Amino acid sequence: MTGRGASGAGPAALDSPITAPSHLHLSGHGTSLILDLPDDGPPRWQYWGPKLRDGTAPRHSAEHSLPTFSLEHPVPCSLMPGFGLGWFGPSGLRAHRQGQHFTQSFATTQVTKDEAGTTATIVLADTVAEIEITIKLCIDPRTDVLTISTALSNLGQAPLDVDWLAAAVIVLPPMAARVRAFGGRHAAEWQVTEDEIGGAQWHRATNEGMTSHTAFPGAIVLTRTADAHQGLAFGAQLAWSGNHQQTINRLDDFRCQWMLGEAFAPGEVRLAPHATLRAPDVLAAVSRDGVNGVATKFHAAIRARGPGLGRSPRPVHLNTWEAMYFGHELSQLISLADAAADLGVERFVLDDGWFNGRDHDRRGLGDWHADKVKYPDGLSPLVRHVTSLGMQFGLWVEPEMVNPDSDLYRAHPDWVLRVAGRPDATARHQLVLDLSRSDVTDHLFTVLSDLLQSESISYLKWDHNRALTAAGNAAGTASYRQQIHCAYALLDRLRAAFPDVEIEACAAGGGRIDAGISLRTHRFWPSDNLDALSRIPIQQGFLHFFPPERMGAHVGAAPAHATGRIQNIDFRAAVALQGHFGLELDPRQLTLSDRAALKRWISFYKAHRDILHADIRTGRADDGLVWHASGTADRWLLIVYRLSPPARAQAPRLPLPFAIRDADYELTLCHPHGGGALQRLGGDALAEIGITLPRMAAQSACIYLGTRA
Ligand code: GLA
Repeated sequence: MTGRGASGAGPAALDSPITAPSHLHLSGHGTSLILDLPDDGPPRWQYWGPKLRDGTAPRHSAEHSLPTFSLEHPVPCSLMPGFGLGWFGPSGLRAHRQGQHFTQSFATTQVTKDEAGTTATIVLADTVAEIEITIKLCIDPRTDVLTISTALSNLGQAPLDVDWLAAAVIVLPPMAARVRAFGGRHAAEWQVTEDEIGGAQWHRATNEGMTSHTAFPGAIVLTRTADAHQGLAFGAQLAWSGNHQQTINRLDDFRCQWMLGEAFAPGEVRLAPHATLRAPDVLAAVSRDGVNGVATKFHAAIRARGPGLGRSPRPVHLNTWEAMYFGHELSQLISLADAAADLGVERFVLDDGWFNGRDHDRRGLGDWHADKVKYPDGLSPLVRHVTSLGMQFGLWVEPEMVNPDSDLYRAHPDWVLRVAGRPDATARHQLVLDLSRSDVTDHLFTVLSDLLQSESISYLKWDHNRALTAAGNAAGTASYRQQIHCAYALLDRLRAAFPDVEIEACAAGGGRIDAGISLRTHRFWPSDNLDALSRIPIQQGFLHFFPPERMGAHVGAAPAHATGRIQNIDFRAAVALQGHFGLELDPRQLTLSDRAALKRWISFYKAHRDILHADIRTGRADDGLVWHASGTADRWLLIVYRLSPPARAQAPRLPLPFAIRDADYELTLCHPHGGGALQRLGGDALAEIGITLPRMAAQSACIYLGTRA
């Protein structure tokens, strides 16, 4: 451990002082982070990028050519830029005590670094504002991903009103040029936007009280020449499922200040004396291998963070939603389960429609016991049948919600989030339970525990189908962030009680996909849109931040319920191979030949799921081609999708930039023709010249298996 004492309050007790002017250098296997440690303020971001040898970075000069009429002592951007004392850019903190103490400026009081040189903890203090901020920076040696954890403590005797606390303030080099971000709507999640980082502030936020469909809390920043496969790229994502915002600002020295954090509602954070406010973690990755390089590191980090179980072979699902909707009938479900088992399905998930009075979406949420008419003997007969067929049984729940037309609401109309004098705004005819009440979470824990104890249920699909509006608690204050913390606590409590139960996070499709809830859930449902053509960009967006085995990917019906478009069974199945494979259709309605094809695809998925859920690379080529490669250096699958009809007589050759140049590969075409060694090729030729594709119609796929010879 090394350390550095600095002026101001706080302990300076550290093993070996770093001589001033000093810096802090952390490294992972491919990344370096260097912070300057000036005497007169918080650490300043000097470098974050591909690994440098220790001691080789130039010292940052404090000398600037100052514009005329500047402050005599200008304040540069730091790890925690305060408000009002000379830093004129966006502050990392905006806080006050009932309007007083609205300025902040921090001194470094402690810097500690571990022996391995991967983790540092920096303590900052403002003795006037009576605030301490602790920032932990850790580059995980396994994944090379930097995790930034920030906490603010109120050292004063009066409450501190916090309007904004950056979970991370990151500074990128001047060549940062474009920012790729994601958002959309229900059934069109993960739509990509790419913006130039110009002179004006770039800003993305949501106040929907959930991660949201509209703005994912993270982005990828590309340098001018970076693309999917090469060039310097940076990524950051906030591990948080509530309101959030991120900004990027071009600084006076052309570098970019990137901040991510929670977005607080007015008055939401009033920190009691001696209390601590913890910001969500930010995961940050940098790679010379472009967008794919950043994604690979994020996948490793999400896998390393847990929650475990998620990397065991991912079982083939059948989800009943689009096959049944609310029309549950036991005999039909039993024959659906038989048809699923016959195809090779391994987990049968009973979706919405099973509980009390749930014949449509206007009734029943909150009454988590089997509907007496549809299930006169409870769920047991169906669960027993499903498990006797060798499948696991999964169940849909939406615990955070209630329909006004439910026994729960009639008994406890005061259990919902609302603001006095404001109307209850329903969405999908439902209201949101106030999870800050322990009687509410105790009730939910009890009903969910009863379900899990009474039946052999090994999987929950946990939904959250609306945004939060007037999220006031019983005290009449905003409860958006507390709602999320209490939802996390409920999930944690259930997981501790039922450690073998897996949980899927869903929120009207992909409204709650983030690295915060991913600590507690094993799978995400990215979208209610099962149209294979729509699904490709949705899935590719998701895969920028999360690994494929966490991404539910189902074969839907034709025509697709969300769009009315028709795609053949092979294309739909090949698109579902990008993630955790499943079905969301009624196999009994399929033609014999489609059913036989689906059976083959399920076998194909099972035979290859180890490499489908390994490292992935994705790319595009001219003429409507998109590709997805997954596997290891020795064995990989390449899936090429043709989205639109060919524009020319022949398809362009497809170079594979991930091929190892001095390796030789044997390439087998698995689909459409199936079987047979196609050719042996050098990795250099594959990377530079590429493969010649078979003739493909619009909305079709071909699949190669590459093995190292
Ligand atoms: C949401 C989910 C769907 C389905 C329905 C059930 O829309 O995204 O997959 O579970 O709820 O009401």
